[in-house]
Amino acid sequence: MSYTNDPYDPKQVAYLSPEALDEAVANAREAFDAAENLDELTAVKHRHLGDKAPILLARREIGALPPAAKADAGKRVNMAKSAATAAYDARAQVLQKQDQERVLREEAVDVTLPTVPRRRGARHPINLMADRITDIFVGMGYAVTEGPEVESEWFSFDALNIHADHPARTMMDTFYVAAPNKEHSGLVLRPHTSPVQIHTMIEQEPPIYAVAPGRVYRTDEVDATHSPVFHQTEGLVVDKGITMAHLKGTLDHFARAMFGPSVKTRLRPSYFPFTEPSAEMDVWFEAHKDGPRWIEWGGCGMVNPRVLTACGIDPDVYSGFAFGMGIDRALMLRHGIADMRDMFDGDVRFPLALGTEE
Ligand code: DAH
Repeated sequence: MSYTNDPYDPKQVAYLSPEALDEAVANAREAFDAAENLDELTAVKHRHLGDKAPILLARREIGALPPAAKADAGKRVNMAKSAATAAYDARAQVLQKQDQERVLREEAVDVTLPTVPRRRGARHPINLMADRITDIFVGMGYAVTEGPEVESEWFSFDALNIHADHPARTMMDTFYVAAPNKEHSGLVLRPHTSPVQIHTMIEQEPPIYAVAPGRVYRTDEVDATHSPVFHQTEGLVVDKGITMAHLKGTLDHFARAMFGPSVKTRLRPSYFPFTEPSAEMDVWFEAHKDGPRWIEWGGCGMVNPRVLTACGIDPDVYSGFAFGMGIDRALMLRHGIADMRDMFDGDVRFPLALGTEE
């Protein structure tokens, strides 16, 4: 907008008179003070401090004044603007404080009110046991690795030296998911966690110290000691100069950490295609419900050089040991659970009965 200052028109500059400015400030202050909340204050702000407010219109008219009058008028307008702004700010502060106090009052929570008690959920004892086992190995510097539950036959068998016509292929009653095709060598629900060894060796360079807890599947009928879904922890070490003594020492330490300092372990000769020599690990169990005895707890052995080779590791440079143990079995032993079905039927009182609730 342009105003010419010639000729000087007093009507056009009426907003600039000291009285008009005083009045504008007084009106603004009154309106701000009358606002009862921040919304109302915002609404009246526009009228008194917005573009079309008398004080702002006055400022625009300064241009129309003769040069000599400009400085004086400018000062007046600025003072009026500051006074109105200060009135606004002061009111805004008061209302904000009131608003905060209202929020605090209205939204206050009485933490002393009684509540309806709710039972917390608990992690399943099998998961807790898996974590306990894993933690002991992590404490020895092992990494935790994982593999898929729907697994290729190559990882589940071939790479583990269990070839198609090998009798051991039928040792594990496997769920077959898909026949071989161009992309994979057939898919199964993994019948053990040993294929995770293969993933680990293919993906990582030795030295390898790894544990792999996980779910496994076999075509077993459900009864007190069998379930088609159960859990294992696989362990794998590949490094230079690894011997069977390292395996025995590791399993001893593990069994004592798990079941107490008086626990003994023993290795019995056994056979697994993926280890050579192979052994069965037994744990001497004092607190067994039918009296102290050796309990079979898992398989183990020195990684078969053929398995190392299948994974691209030179068996002349590296050697390793591996083991696989049942998690469900460990839980049954530790808590004297006689029927495996109790672990899976989802009764929320089960962890309470075991005292494993966390
Ligand atoms: N995979 C075997 C099973 O499910 C257990 C096992 C035995 C794992 C020996 C191993 C091992 O790593 O070395 O029965």
